[in-house]
Amino acid sequence: MESVFEEIAGFIKEQYPGKKFIPLHAPVFNGNERKYVMDTLDSTFVSSVGAYVDRFEQMMCDITGARYAIAIVNGTNALHLALLLAGVERNDEVISQSLTFIATCNAISYIGAKPVFVDIDKDTLGLSPAALEQFLNENATIGSDGFAYNNKTKRRIKACVPMHTFGFPCRIDEIAAICTKWNIDLIEDAAESIGSYYKGKHTGIFGKIGTFSFNGNKVVTSGGGGALVTNDEKLAKHAKHLSTQAKIAHPWAFMHDEVGYNYRMPNLNAALACAQLEQLPAFVDNKRALAQLYKSKFEALNMNFHTELPDTRANYWLNVLMLDSKEQQQQFLAYMNSNGVMSRPVWELMHRLPMFENEERACLTNSEWVADRLVNIPSSVRYE
Ligand SMILES: Cc1ncc(COP(=O)(O)O)c(C=O)c1O
Repeated sequence: MESVFEEIAGFIKEQYPGKKFIPLHAPVFNGNERKYVMDTLDSTFVSSVGAYVDRFEQMMCDITGARYAIAIVNGTNALHLALLLAGVERNDEVISQSLTFIATCNAISYIGAKPVFVDIDKDTLGLSPAALEQFLNENATIGSDGFAYNNKTKRRIKACVPMHTFGFPCRIDEIAAICTKWNIDLIEDAAESIGSYYKGKHTGIFGKIGTFSFNGNKVVTSGGGGALVTNDEKLAKHAKHLSTQAKIAHPWAFMHDEVGYNYRMPNLNAALACAQLEQLPAFVDNKRALAQLYKSKFEALNMNFHTELPDTRANYWLNVLMLDSKEQQQQFLAYMNSNGVMSRPVWELMHRLPMFENEERACLTNSEWVADRLVNIPSSVRYE
């Protein structure tokens, strides 16, 4: 395989000319970033109140089609808040994927709730509606209070958090229908899928709440940042309230009516986010063009490059190559990372981590298959 790996490394380097080391995903700041960030310094409004926070929230509504968007300090905290707003409580169960970034499960754990791991579809890399339905049919019953309960653990199944892995939308409409049938709140972890659409609708708006991340490694970044979107006015108001220490608005008095959080995104970060979001369509087009080049190359090499489903438009945040075996995956990673091309496997599956190894889970054959074969390859926006 070494000669094929050499050819792939050469091809990737050609896409990023003049670079000695090709990172997985580096941010690009070629728009109004400097201007907007300097505005916040000049105005002294660098913290949690400011015009860019409002502008960012409006841009998120415009982009996603959600009625409300709330700027949050990062994607993990946005998820935590979303779960709280959905009424998830200690010892509730929250169905999610084992193949996800740790933040999904950490947010569930902050509340003292328990993640339950259900398998993914190989073609979307996201939660499988068929596996979700099977899990619920075999393991859950609707109680007299109208909520779903796990027959074995007797815990309430309050929410479901699918994730749009690497920007590839999962079968979110089917998942939404199952959640509605079982009275389970749907919260989309859309951290990786800004600019990704499922059947013409932006990801993150199919359930009660959707959350996004604007961490430095994402398609667009605010340095650190997140957002929560919803169509529910009451939830949106509560989200803003909880994210600002639950302070009752007053010109000088400090009055708080519940335990709140300091989860607001600072204006400084929102300024960066606004400048980046202005470039989102161009960034996604640029990334999709790179994915096309990869697709042709890997087709010619008879290798399995991961592509979007017909009814979806993926942002191709991180490009995915599926190798033939774990052994080949390890060889690929060793070759690329020692030859100036960053590559990495998917996150360790959640059910294999010490904190979650005893949590409930369904059969995870697809997750394990993918974890043994997947590698991410460089995916940054290319610019002259
Ligand atoms: C799937 C997923 N969920 C949540 C997060 C958390 O976002 P943040 O890093 O902004 O806290 C990330 C990314 O970092 C992610 O990839």
